Formats: sequence, C-alpha cells, structure tokens
Amino acid sequence: MDRIRIVGGNELHGVIPISGAKNAALPLMIASLLTDDTLTLENVPHLADVEQLIRILGNHGADISVNGRRERQGESYARTIHFTSRNIVSTTAPYELVSKMRASFWVIGPLLAREGKARVSLPGGCAIGTRPVDLFIDGLTALGANIEIDGGYVNATVPAGGLVGGRYVFPKVSVGATHVLMMAATLANGTTVLGNAAREPEVVDLAKCLNAMGAKITGQGTNTITVEGVPSLSGARHRVLPDRIETGTYAMAVAMAGGDVILEDTDASLLETALEAIRRTGAEISETNSGIRIVRSGAGIKPVDIVTDPFPGFPTDLQAQFMGLMTKSSGVSHITETIFENRFMHVQELARLGAKISLSGQTAKVEGVSRLKGAPVMATDLRASVSLVIAGLAAEGETMVSRVYHLDRGFERLEEKLTRCGAHVERVSD
Ligand code: UD1
Repeated sequence: MDRIRIVGGNELHGVIPISGAKNAALPLMIASLLTDDTLTLENVPHLADVEQLIRILGNHGADISVNGRRERQGESYARTIHFTSRNIVSTTAPYELVSKMRASFWVIGPLLAREGKARVSLPGGCAIGTRPVDLFIDGLTALGANIEIDGGYVNATVPAGGLVGGRYVFPKVSVGATHVLMMAATLANGTTVLGNAAREPEVVDLAKCLNAMGAKITGQGTNTITVEGVPSLSGARHRVLPDRIETGTYAMAVAMAGGDVILEDTDASLLETALEAIRRTGAEISETNSGIRIVRSGAGIKPVDIVTDPFPGFPTDLQAQFMGLMTKSSGVSHITETIFENRFMHVQELARLGAKISLSGQTAKVEGVSRLKGAPVMATDLRASVSLVIAGLAAEGETMVSRVYHLDRGFERLEEKLTRCGAHVERVSD
C-alpha cells in the first residue's frame, strides 16, 4: 500500500494549479442521470472518488467517455468527460458500490425523478460521525415519494404521475440533501420550494448546470431555492468550479511552511472565511488575475480560533488542516467543530508529531509548540490525512503517512504539486 514520505523544513515557492472541485464534480456527474442526452463536464479532477462514481453510473446504464487531454501542457490534469444515459438499465445502487462513497447515495434523486423508482444501499464514506439519511427521506417524501428502508436498502417509489412539487424546510443544513432534492424537483410536476437549503458554491454550480440542461431553478446561493418542474432535461456542457478545499489546503500549507506561492485557476470568493482566518495567522493573501497569492515570510504563526459552520462559515473540510497549522502557532487556539461529530481523528496523529492538543466535547484546544518532529502517522479520513501532510512540511526530519488512499480520494497529484514548489514529498510504494 502506498505511503507518503515528507522531509520537513523546506519553504514553498512557485505555482500550484488548483483542480476542479471534487464536491462539485460528484453531484454534477450524478445529474447526468436526469437526461437521455449527453452531459459534458470539463475540469473534472482525476480522483479515486470520481473513478468510483464512474463505475456506479455505468451500472445504471451511463456510457462514459473520458478525454484525457491535458488542458494546458504540463500544468493542469483536468479531464473532459462525456456522460450519456440513453436508457437507465438498473435503478438499484448496490451495497458493494455505494458503501465506498457516501455521495453515491445521491443517485436516488435522479433515478426517482426519471424512472419513478430507486433501490439504493445506505451509504458509506469517511468514518466521521453517523451521517444519517433522514433529511433525504423526509424531503423526497414531501415530493410525493413512498420510501421504506429494508435490509440496508432505501426502497423508493413514486405513484403514477410522478413526483409533485412541494415545500420542504430542512431542519438542518445538508449539502447532499439539497443536491438531491434540487435534482429530483427539476422533473417534478409543479413548483418546489426548499427552505434552509445549503448555500455552498457546489450547490450553486449544480443549479447552474441543471439550468443549462433546461431546469428552472432560482435562489441558489441563498437559503431558499425554488425549482419549477419541467417535463424533461437536455444535455449541456459545463465546467466544474475550482476546488475551494484544495485551495484552502495549499494556502494553509504555505502559511505553515513559509514561502510565496500562487494558487492558480481558483477564486478567493469561494473561501473568504477561511482565507480571513489564514490572514489572521500572519500570512499575506492577495488576489491575482488567475487566483490567489499567499506569502508568509519571517514572522511566526499567530494563534486564531475558528468554528466550523455551513457556507459561508469556516468549512468543516478545512478544520483538520487548520488544526495542523495551529500546532506551530505562538499561543493557544480553539477549534470548534459543529457539523460532524467525531471529526477529530487527526488529533492523536498530530500528537505523534509533538503537537499539544486537548479535546473537550466539540472543541479542541491547541497549544502551539516551537518544533514538531517527524514520525510515522496514519491517515484516518480524507481531510485528516492532508492535515498530517501540512504538519509534516514543518516538522523536523521524516514524516511517513500511511493509508494514503484516503488522500487519493480527494487530492489530485498532491505530492507532485508540492514537490514542484520545493517541498520534499514523495510517494513510496511497498
Ligand atoms: C458534503 C461534502 C463533505 C462536507 C459536508 C459538509 C460532498 C461530496 N461532501 O457532505 O465533504 O464535509 O458536505 O460541508 O460534497 N445530516 C443528517 N441527515 C441527513 C443528511 C445529513 O443529519 O439526512 C447531517 C450530517 O450527519 C452532518 C450534517 O447534516 O452532521 C451536514 O452533512 P451534509 O451537509 O449532508 O454532508 P454531505 O453532503 O454528506
């Protein structure tokens, strides 16, 4: 199994191209099931989760062709992928496929809207909390679906005549449930109003693509989304928006290791809250024509408290990385996680590098130390694993991160992007 070996101490200097967002690409790919026409997605990142979803969509009958051409010689690895689901050949998403990735559960929305039935295994994914599916079930029920759970599967059917528009107010903000209800409502009879909807940029990106396919969605980016149902959707061409989590991760890597890096093909407006927190640690951040420049020179890392929140708050997917950065701050910081329970598995691994962190409920108290020392550590989930890489960049000596398949789910060519900026990071295959 692959491991990542990091020798800490080098500053980062250069340019890092930011990939298309994994969390936008996945729902966009799933949206292709809503039409018998071709949906073409540009800027799709090459990640294990994308490959897994390609297998899942293939199982439902999608024909998928990948154009592997690099968009810009030597700089970007994005791919253009064409999805055509002329006929849905199966409305079942089996346990073997869905258990590997939670987002694959989201096929329930398009399958139900287009075929009137879906049988989807309860999901898997990162082990961060219990992650139930009650909001999906309640929301789809509000659109007229009949749903029962049996033997680990969600069985959903729609009475003759199809889904009907309705009003549903999410009791809790959920990105996935917002994606699914928005997709399902595009083909419902009548108008659907979704209250307390997620405002994440990936929701806006999905709405933009669905509208290009002929849907009538308004209010995306606010907490009330209105979807006027249409009889059918057509194909479209859509470019996946930049990955704000990858952007924030590399910005924190520079804030940690020091240096001067341009993050290319991204957009500061996607992560204002996180960039502001990084600025307060002492790094300078400015916008360039094609992205963001981040500089940290000389001065130490100041302690900054953060609380995770739905967008536009501080993203939970950057919490672990920020904790990695705070391990070397010049004081005490508090990091509070409000989205997921059990999202502190990186704490004990960071401690192996010499970090001083204590947990009290959903808050971690991080007492900055002047030096971290490299050690063998284990990746426990996708975002936790990259926090270990960030800490390793500023640790003395060698840090060996095992179980890097977690990293491969969400970070495209991480070692290559960091190495090009002067870091000593390599993949070791046993
Ligand atoms: C998405 C992201 C993930 C990110 C998360 C929060 C993708 C592929 N994944 O995950 O990276 O960390 O948003 O920004 O886009 N919940 C319920 N019942 C439900 C659904 C969710 O209680 O039916 C809870 C969850 O347990 C969690 C909270 O709602 O506590 C938010 O989860 P949600 O926004 O749904 O996360 P995902 O869409 O799975």
